[in-house]
Amino acid sequence: MPETSYHMSPDEFRRWGKAVIDWIAGYLERIDSFPVLSSVEPGQLRAALPPAPPAEGEPFGRILADVDKLILPGITHWQSPNFFAFFPANASGPAILGELLAAGLGVQGMLWATSPAATELETHVLDWLVGMLALPEKFLSTREGGGVIQDTASSATLCALLAARERSTGFASNRRGTDGRLVAYGSSETHSALLKAVKIAGLGEENLRLVGVDERFAMRPDALASAIEQDRRAGKMPCFVCATVGTTSSQAIDPVAEIGRLCQQHGMWLHVDAAMCGTAALCPEFRWIHQGLELADSYCFNPHKWMFTNFDCDCFWVADRKALIRTLSVLPEYLRNPATESGKVFDYRDWQIPLGRRFRSLKLWFVIRHYGLEGLRHHIREHVRLAQEFATWVAQDDQFELAAPAPLNLVCFRHCAGDAFNQALLDRLNASGNLYLTQTRLDRRFTLRLCVGQTHTQARHVEQAWHHIRKEAAALQASAADRILRRSEGPGD
Ligand SMILES: Cc1ncc(COP(=O)(O)O)c(C=O)c1O
Repeated sequence: MPETSYHMSPDEFRRWGKAVIDWIAGYLERIDSFPVLSSVEPGQLRAALPPAPPAEGEPFGRILADVDKLILPGITHWQSPNFFAFFPANASGPAILGELLAAGLGVQGMLWATSPAATELETHVLDWLVGMLALPEKFLSTREGGGVIQDTASSATLCALLAARERSTGFASNRRGTDGRLVAYGSSETHSALLKAVKIAGLGEENLRLVGVDERFAMRPDALASAIEQDRRAGKMPCFVCATVGTTSSQAIDPVAEIGRLCQQHGMWLHVDAAMCGTAALCPEFRWIHQGLELADSYCFNPHKWMFTNFDCDCFWVADRKALIRTLSVLPEYLRNPATESGKVFDYRDWQIPLGRRFRSLKLWFVIRHYGLEGLRHHIREHVRLAQEFATWVAQDDQFELAAPAPLNLVCFRHCAGDAFNQALLDRLNASGNLYLTQTRLDRRFTLRLCVGQTHTQARHVEQAWHHIRKEAAALQASAADRILRRSEGPGD
């Protein structure tokens, strides 16, 4: 009697695998045609789904048809060339195929021994990236440092803070807990991932200092120095600074060299978060953003933001891998193996919070090999050029103003008519489906952000965005003028 099996057969897999690839290719080909922002109501998808799962398996074709019918309307199209919101999470053909292969191999690479290729490819690609971004050589795995792929920049910040906590307490707080004396520093523009890390690492929210910024929204080293002095005088132990190369609000670049010198003076760990902007350093002309990085203890950037590598992929380097490993390593009997015991291999479970890990380096390797350094540089330069062009249009229009310097591919701007007008303008633009922008507050004023970083964004998309922005602003002004006119004429009879 044949054994009962509900599994997908290899032939079915081949057939539907090809259908899914065709589906993705078709989706990406027509992605311009979708309203960028999903307009479903809360609960709409759940109301359309059956209350209970199927007792019997369903044909795969029916499942795929439901993706079109049920899922697509609830998708905000991050891969649309008209997506200018937040920072991008861009993707590309080679990265998607790398993800697929990683899924096909189904590797869980927690230890070198659980798939040597997964570990060694990761180490190698991260060493390549040290050269590609001209990072300090101390981050190389062939020196005292090394790189590891984290899921996100938030995890990188947390790992860095934990290692800093341990280094500054002689690796004792892991055993005894912190005594409330350790202090971490960022700026008022640092990503909220730092606050989360401080909470998780047990420093306590009251031991996070968010120091002031200058007129370019970059951390003020003098403010940092006085915060450190004040804490020292109060008997605290300053242990960690997170500097940002490209803040989330406005892409401000903190003065890493001056911050680094303060860290050295006070024996503090310097982590540099370049989640979005690090990619720019592929191009020699943008490497100024990393000035002072030789003073950092750790550094991260997200290929999943701007380097055409599907989410999730954050590259994180430390200058002294021993500090990180000593902080995060635990070795139960069931994980013991000869390779680990030999001391000749990296076990990346010791470089991150979870035990298990995906084979993420495959997609990164595919991207780097597909584009080559010159291909990557070409597209990054083009994004920066388009953003700079947009900034010029804003600066030349007397209805609009730039709200911050635009060093790379993010433009912060606003209409001169004030906060309520800008909020209404943003709402109209996003409701139109033609593009997606998000907002921030700079100097307490409502500010629109336009980031050019989507894989397929071209000049025409940025031109159309500017056209829509001006058109909606004019329409909004006309309706406001109309309202005022009607009010001044008073109620008719
Ligand atoms: C500067 C910076 N740091 C950290 C993050 C958090 O990124 P992730 O989602 O990778 O944790 C962001 C997200 O936009 C960011 O801009």
